[in-house]
Amino acid sequence: MPDEKKPVIIYGGSFDPPHRGHARLAAAALRQLSPAALYLVPGFRTPFKDASPAPYRARAAMLRAALTAEGLAGRKELKISPFEAARRRVVYTWETVAHFRALHPGAPLYFLMGSDCLDGFARWKRPGFILEHARLLVGLRPGHAPARGSAPYAPLAGAFPEADSTAVRAALFLGRRPPQLHPAVCGLIAEEGLYLGRERALLEKNITPGRYAHSLHTAGLVLELAGAAGVPQRQAALAALLHDCARDLPASEIRRLCAPAARRDPLLRETLERAPLLAHAWAGARLAAEKYGARDPEVAEAIRLHATGAPGMGPLARLVYLGDLANQGRAFREAALVRKLAFIDLDAAFKAANYVKLTHAFAGGGWVHPLSVQLWNSLQEKKNG
Ligand SMILES: [Fe+2]
Ligand SMILES: [Fe+2]
Repeated sequence: MPDEKKPVIIYGGSFDPPHRGHARLAAAALRQLSPAALYLVPGFRTPFKDASPAPYRARAAMLRAALTAEGLAGRKELKISPFEAARRRVVYTWETVAHFRALHPGAPLYFLMGSDCLDGFARWKRPGFILEHARLLVGLRPGHAPARGSAPYAPLAGAFPEADSTAVRAALFLGRRPPQLHPAVCGLIAEEGLYLGRERALLEKNITPGRYAHSLHTAGLVLELAGAAGVPQRQAALAALLHDCARDLPASEIRRLCAPAARRDPLLRETLERAPLLAHAWAGARLAAEKYGARDPEVAEAIRLHATGAPGMGPLARLVYLGDLANQGRAFREAALVRKLAFIDLDAAFKAANYVKLTHAFAGGGWVHPLSVQLWNSLQEKKNG
């Protein structure tokens, strides 16, 4: 094969979603090395990221759109490889290098990355194997100068500003169009309802505009705090967006949705009797599964407990409870205070949210939900124990 001595470049990543930075790095590598092939290899799951990314097929389509927008359409050297995604497990870079080494035995092999990844390289699995079979090809990201003593690498000419993928995804989950993405990629995301676009569209049709705005505000705060809470972004966004999905339903529909759970749960029967408004949380958990396909038990828990809280709530449920009370759309003074506290101490903010909810409930007079009081007591026990 005449091309076989030309270099071959591997470019791995989650590409969730592919942004301008990715496309520019690929374009620069093509210019500098004139390779026989540049393989973009979207991972099934990146070892260092917890959330499940958008489906491979969608990421591959977005990559094609980004490369086309960058003027790289029709470049036969560019190939999107399903090698990692097809394995349906975390695939380590050394395995990917081994695969392409076997595919191109005689070719100089390069592994393309931004300089921000270089610092962590020594902690990758089998870095020695990777360096034995491939050279690192590194694009400089401003603010990420390679440290002394980093792994040896070939520099790529130019500078490549990095887009913060976490921030890009957060914007997408809220239905925004991040400038770091090519318009064609944003178009594809909207068309396919990716990054919860499908769920948001359905929600918008089924709750009032004010409630929809409140759901977006809740999701906004929850996404800002998800990293600190150790909760995956998509899961956090989904639970926050859907937490009030049943809030605007007529009472009869809420009763119908609650009926199966109420048969097993005397407390829910009492809730329906004494404070039927609060039952929208239980109804919402069921509606989220039935109508929106949200069957994750942690998402269901977060929706079910958002109005009352309960002792022993998981991290996602705590986060949505807090986000519901303290988001930017809330006009009362305590919301801003709890929000401020959340960025300093999440646990303290969670407790403060419970305090604010209880004091509002007491001030209103009447029945206070036992779960809210039990939550309060459990937090005191934690403090004293
Ligand atoms: Fe609610
Ligand atoms: Fe709410």
